[in-house]
Amino acid sequence: MILRIAMIGFGNVGQEFASMLLARREWLLKDRGLDAEVLAIYTKSRGALLSKRALDLGKCLELVRGGRNLSEYGPESTSLSPVELISKCNADVLIELSPLNIESGQPAIDHIVAGIENGMDVVTANKGPVAFAYKRLRNLARSKGIHFRFEGTVMDGTPIFNLVEKTLQGCEVLGLEGILNSTSNYVLTEMTSGKTVEQAVRAAQKGGFAEADPSLDLEGWDAAAKITALANVLMDADTTPKSVDRQGIGGIEAKDIERASSLNKKYKLIARAEAAGEGIRLSVRPEMIGPDSTFWSVDGTSSALTIRTDLMGDLTILETNPRVTQTAYAVFSDILSVLESIRAGTAH
Ligand SMILES: NC(=O)c1ccc[n+]([C@@H]2O[C@H](COP(=O)([O-])OP(=O)(O)OC[C@H]3O[C@@H](n4cnc5c(N)ncnc54)[C@H](OP(=O)(O)O)[C@@H]3O)[C@@H](O)[C@H]2O)c1
Repeated sequence: MILRIAMIGFGNVGQEFASMLLARREWLLKDRGLDAEVLAIYTKSRGALLSKRALDLGKCLELVRGGRNLSEYGPESTSLSPVELISKCNADVLIELSPLNIESGQPAIDHIVAGIENGMDVVTANKGPVAFAYKRLRNLARSKGIHFRFEGTVMDGTPIFNLVEKTLQGCEVLGLEGILNSTSNYVLTEMTSGKTVEQAVRAAQKGGFAEADPSLDLEGWDAAAKITALANVLMDADTTPKSVDRQGIGGIEAKDIERASSLNKKYKLIARAEAAGEGIRLSVRPEMIGPDSTFWSVDGTSSALTIRTDLMGDLTILETNPRVTQTAYAVFSDILSVLESIRAGTAH
């Protein structure tokens, strides 16, 4: 079977996914009978490509990693907008990997709608669409018999959505609690060894896991988007990051860390989703925790999520030292799930 792919966004995750596709090409063919071909690639500032035949991914990677423009690839170069590219590409699957827009989730939502309207299955690692428009996208996808998958949106591909969907069937998720933002957790950990926020942020930027503008992380927006995406999917919350009761770690000072330490406690940025009356309350805030907490040893760039269920009790998943490979793998495994569902004749 040939699966034709269109990629909107060819940055860190997109390039890593392309490398993975090349590295696993033989395995895909032999083990899964799948030939995955990329027909279209869009970047905002490094060119875009549209082809009737499989693009040479090695050549695309060489160009962008060499700081060159995809327009140098050849006549496949195009100036179409992402939505135009999606409408014209004739691909089976859209992989949406544009940056997170924390204000609205756009334009990624429009890209996904265009993909679904054009009959394409959709895989994304962009949490914006799941945090701002999950119900709408899910319903649209269902109405068209389209698969919509997004494992890479939370905890860099650690199986959360798949875990609940595939292995906790029939369980109700009653609540969620986690450390979901690597940068904030790293900064809080570094502060316990005497670093200032500025020093810790600089080290995180040097390590490549904090943005040039770390405010999305430090003000709790990234964690808010993640807990919203989780609650929308796993608890049917139908809300947006704007309704999260949010407080970042910006207000935490060295004296707070010292005080917590003197009490044998630590500060952690905890994101939570819990039932409140008829609705679901979402919050992100720094909290002091003690050695009895599940999250006590979740330090540095690690993340963790506790899923509270009615039939399986509390499950905690820990992710240590995430890398971009894990997110790219989430996209890869979502593609395999789509393939499995196509073969089984089922839609999500
Ligand atoms: N990096 C990670 O470890 C990680 C982990 C989990 C989730 N994610 C999510 O995965 C997505 C991709 O992350 P990334 O690290 O690959 O980001 P990135 O390196 O910034 O790449 C983003 C890509 O999207 C393109 N782009 C920018 N604005 C666009 C627009 N308006 N429409 C379409 N494409 C646009 C960029 O073009 P240029 O090439 O011209 O800049 C680039 O090719 C993001 O939503 C991110 O939050 C990332």
